[in-house]
Amino acid sequence: MDIKHEILRRRTFAIISHPDAGKTTLTEKLLLYGGTIQTAGAVRSNKIRKTAASDFMEIERQRGISVATSVMTFEYDGLIVNILDTPGHKDFAEDTYRTLTAVDSVILVVDCVKGVEEQTENLMRVCRMRKTPVIVFVNKLDREGRRAFDLMDEIEKKLAIRVRPLSWPIGMGTAFKGVYNLYERNLSLFAPGKTTVELHRQVVGDLEDPLLDERLGRDAGVLRDDVALIEGVYDRFSVDDYLRAEAAPVFFGSALNNFGVRELLETFLRIAPPPQAREADARLVEPTEEKLSGFVFKIHANIDPRHRDRIAFLRVCSGRFERDKSFFHVRLGKEVRFSTPYNFMAQRKSIIEEAFPGDVVGLYDRGNLKIGDTLTEGEALTFRGIPSFSPELFRELVSTDPMRSKQLDKGVKELTEEGLAQLFVQNLGRRKIIGTVGELQFDVIHYRLLHEYGASCRFERLGYARACWLTSDDPASLERFMELKARDIAHDRDGSPVFFAESEWWLARMVEDNPKISFHLTSEFKTRRAEPSGV
Ligand code: G4P
Repeated sequence: MDIKHEILRRRTFAIISHPDAGKTTLTEKLLLYGGTIQTAGAVRSNKIRKTAASDFMEIERQRGISVATSVMTFEYDGLIVNILDTPGHKDFAEDTYRTLTAVDSVILVVDCVKGVEEQTENLMRVCRMRKTPVIVFVNKLDREGRRAFDLMDEIEKKLAIRVRPLSWPIGMGTAFKGVYNLYERNLSLFAPGKTTVELHRQVVGDLEDPLLDERLGRDAGVLRDDVALIEGVYDRFSVDDYLRAEAAPVFFGSALNNFGVRELLETFLRIAPPPQAREADARLVEPTEEKLSGFVFKIHANIDPRHRDRIAFLRVCSGRFERDKSFFHVRLGKEVRFSTPYNFMAQRKSIIEEAFPGDVVGLYDRGNLKIGDTLTEGEALTFRGIPSFSPELFRELVSTDPMRSKQLDKGVKELTEEGLAQLFVQNLGRRKIIGTVGELQFDVIHYRLLHEYGASCRFERLGYARACWLTSDDPASLERFMELKARDIAHDRDGSPVFFAESEWWLARMVEDNPKISFHLTSEFKTRRAEPSGV
């Protein structure tokens, strides 16, 4: 099979949003178009609404399919579309950040009633950092939302990206009539409640077409004025600007009513980038290279305690992945082979013989693979851009059953390798500090340690707000600082020193007082630095 052809027909992306903006509903509608699912509601169980660990675990168990829904692959118009799922719950934001390292583009969903919400801003920050092309879908037009122009301003300002509407709503809420496609100059009239795959499109010659007046009545005039304003205010849409992540095209619609989704999908497939070259520590890796390279961006534990294996998700970056072929595990410096690699077509896991750049392969693993690990055909390279981010909550992990401390150590090690939380150690590992972005993660860790490892523990609150990775060109200064602040220093899973700050203010002071030391808010040092002004 021609590898170039395979690469060009792949589109690997994630849908991201603040919880409740409509990510699940949109995903579901896209899968309906792809023929992957037949009924609406099939991906509903993917939601984590409740905040108790037992609910979370129950949902995970019910999901059983959660592994399958981590990646959803379908074929549309000869293209292979890989949607990487991201957890909606904010406490699992880091999982989302990591998934963003494995995609080539993103569709961002904004609720027209609520506008740009906090989590969207955070996610967008990661996209900007990685220069990931973004398409925005403004959802829930069947509700009384904000004015479209106001939303555009807000998106531009809060997400710090130039926007260009490619469709435009006619009315909103109960008066919502449809959308005008500014790119193709056609009109889609809204018919509420249509959740099946349907065409609503009406071709209009141009904005002066009397059909517009016939269909829209007085709204036709408003649309003409709006379009004139849009043409005057916004730059022409440029695919190159989108691909450089400098401008985001914006679509309007209603995922629940399956309205505006087809336009979104078709434009997405036309302009979204196929797998791109990726930066590794040693060099840039082109997808068309003959030899395989790929990295692990997610690890999923088997929830069934009788089966200790896990599934590692490998994003293929170059070459061809083949079943039963030996690959080089760069971190361990040894050959590994996978006899049952999976893909996730039609929401079912099935064993595959080969995979191409852009694909995500599920690999059964018994503890050899960690997030960030790279597989190659012999070259010692590691992909950049899979950093740990500073957690926001910190607790000391205390064993409450000394007889089971070995199990506790093992459990904590494995759960943090999965990326559930971050583990920092002090006193040669005797004191363990767990860092997370949300409360729910502590509950899940507690629950899983007990149920999967038979180890009980409690968490003691620590008054830290930030963790910063430390580097310095002056080893003596670093050593002095670490001695002086020993109480607030720990080491991450790779042994890198980390400083815990109790507030942004305190961190800013440390940065100012210690000019020879660099404080980094991610474990990947080239990406973000703490500035004296905070973060
Ligand atoms: P999420 O994955 O981003 O968290 O959001 P999800 O798709 O679950 O949507 C959140 C809620 O918004 C759901 O309602 C969903 O039905 C609704 N929704 C999604 N798209 C639209 C839309 O275009 N218009 C309107 N009016 N509502 C929309 P829910 O009541 O919270 O859940 P459910 O009972 O419908 O499952």
